[in-house]
Amino acid sequence: MNALEVARRDRRGALQRLDDLLRIPSVSAVPEHAPDVRRAADWVAERLRAAGVTDARVDETPGHPVVYGAWHVSPDRPTVLVYGHYDVQPADPVELWTTPPFEPTERDGRLYARGSSDDKGQMLMHLEAAAAYRDADGEPPVNLVYVIEGEEEVGSPSLAGWLEAHADELRADVAVISDTAMPAKGQPSLIYGLRGLAYMEVCLRGPNRDLHSGQFGGAVLNPANALCAMVARLHDEDGRVAIPGFYDRVRTLGADERSELAKVPFDEAGFRGAAGAAGDWGEAGYSVVERLGARPTLDVNGIWSGWTGAGAKTVLPSEASAKISMRLVPDQDPDEIGALFEAHMKRLAPQGSVVEVRALHGGKPALVDRSIPAMQAAAIAYRDTFGREPVYTREGGTIPVVAMLDDVLGLQTVLMGFGLPDDNLHAPNEKLDLDNYNLGIETVIRFLAALAEGDRQPGQERRT
Ligand code: BES
Ligand code: MN
Ligand code: MN
Repeated sequence: MNALEVARRDRRGALQRLDDLLRIPSVSAVPEHAPDVRRAADWVAERLRAAGVTDARVDETPGHPVVYGAWHVSPDRPTVLVYGHYDVQPADPVELWTTPPFEPTERDGRLYARGSSDDKGQMLMHLEAAAAYRDADGEPPVNLVYVIEGEEEVGSPSLAGWLEAHADELRADVAVISDTAMPAKGQPSLIYGLRGLAYMEVCLRGPNRDLHSGQFGGAVLNPANALCAMVARLHDEDGRVAIPGFYDRVRTLGADERSELAKVPFDEAGFRGAAGAAGDWGEAGYSVVERLGARPTLDVNGIWSGWTGAGAKTVLPSEASAKISMRLVPDQDPDEIGALFEAHMKRLAPQGSVVEVRALHGGKPALVDRSIPAMQAAAIAYRDTFGREPVYTREGGTIPVVAMLDDVLGLQTVLMGFGLPDDNLHAPNEKLDLDNYNLGIETVIRFLAALAEGDRQPGQERRT
C-alpha cells in the first residue's frame, strides 16, 4: 500500500486525532489558558513522535512554547520546513456558537470547533501525511523539519528570536504552510502574497475626569467628539488612507499581475452576500481581489468612550480610545507605518487634548517567488488531487512567520491552503470542510513526492 492508500484507509483515525487536539482550548491571548496552550504543545510533540518524527521536542520561549521536529532521511534529498500554529483565537462570543467551541461536532460533512480550520486542522494534514509515509514506506521522500508555534494569533512575538537561535537546526530548501483558504470548494489556489499588519491603540484625553455635560458641554473639549473627527480624517473621499507617507513604499501593481488577478474566479456578489454587506465599498480603481490582497487598508476594530450602558447618562467623557489596524503590502514596514500613524494622530489631535498611541502587534507583508520548483510541485499536487489547476492569488490576512523565514533563514514559502471563505475564522461556528481535510492530506503527500521527484538528478534512482 502506498502513502495515499494508507491515508485513505485511515480517514477515521485522522479525524479522531483532529477531534482530540480541538478539545484543548489553546487560546494564546488569554493568560488563564496558558496551561491549555502548553497541553496542546505537548500533544503536537507527541503526535510528531507517533508519526515517526524521531527528533521532536517542546522549546521554551519568553511566551508560549515552540514545537520542533526533524526527520532527516538523506542528505541527498531536499528539506522541507513545515510551519503551523497550534494556538487559537478566543471563542467569544460563545453564546453565538451552535455547539460548544471546544467540543468538535460534525454536521453536513463539516467539523465545527475553534481552530478546526485556523490552524489545527490544516497543520495536522502535514503530520498525517508524514504518518502515512511512515506506514507505507518507512520514511517520507524528503527531509522534514517542523516548526509549530503557539503565538501566531498574538503576532508571533517570540518567534523571530527562536528562529535566529535555532537557525542551524532549521536549514531547509523551502517552507510550506497550510493556514490560508482556497477561493471556493474544488478550486485550489497558490497564494504568493500575504498582507502585513500594524495594530495600534490610541487614547485621547481631555478633562481630568468625566464632567456633567450640561455644566461643561460646549465649553470644554470632548475627547469622544474629537477622536471621531480624527478617525474620520484617516480616509479620503476615494477610500485611500490619508496618513502622509502611508503609500510611499507600496509597490504598484503591474499590468501583468492585474490581468492575472482578474482571472481569479472571484464572485463579488457572493462575497458581499457572505459578508452580509449591502453594497460595494473600497479604494476607488481596484477590484475586490486587489483591494483584499494587494492594497493596504486602515480599519477601526473597536472604539469606546463615555456612557455605553443602557439608557441615557449626561456625561462629557474624560477620554476616548480606539483600536485601529492597518493591513500592509510590500514594502511597507509595520514599525515605520506605526510611527507615521502616531505622528499623524499627534498632528490631528486638537488643542486641549493629549494623545497616546501604542503598537499592540504586527507582522510584515510577504510576497513569495512564484517561479521556485516547490511551487511547481505544489501545482502538480493540487492538480492531481483536485482535478483542477490552482489559481495564483494574494490573500488579505497576515502570517508573520512568512517574512521572518525569508529574513532570518532566506526561505521562500509555499502557501498551500485548504480552508474555505466561509470557515468563520476568528468567529463563532468556525468549521473545517472534511473533504478538504482528507484532500489536504493527499495533496501534502503528493507535494512531498513531487518535490523529491523534481529534485532527482538524471541517473539517480526513483524515490517514489
Ligand atoms: N491563518 C490566519 C491568516 C490568514 C487567514 C491568512 C485567512 C489568509 C487567509 C492567521 O492565523 C491570522 O489570523 N493572522 C492574524 C495576524 C496576527 C498578527 C494576529 C490576522 O491576519 O489577523
Ligand atoms: Mn492561522
Ligand atoms: Mn488566525
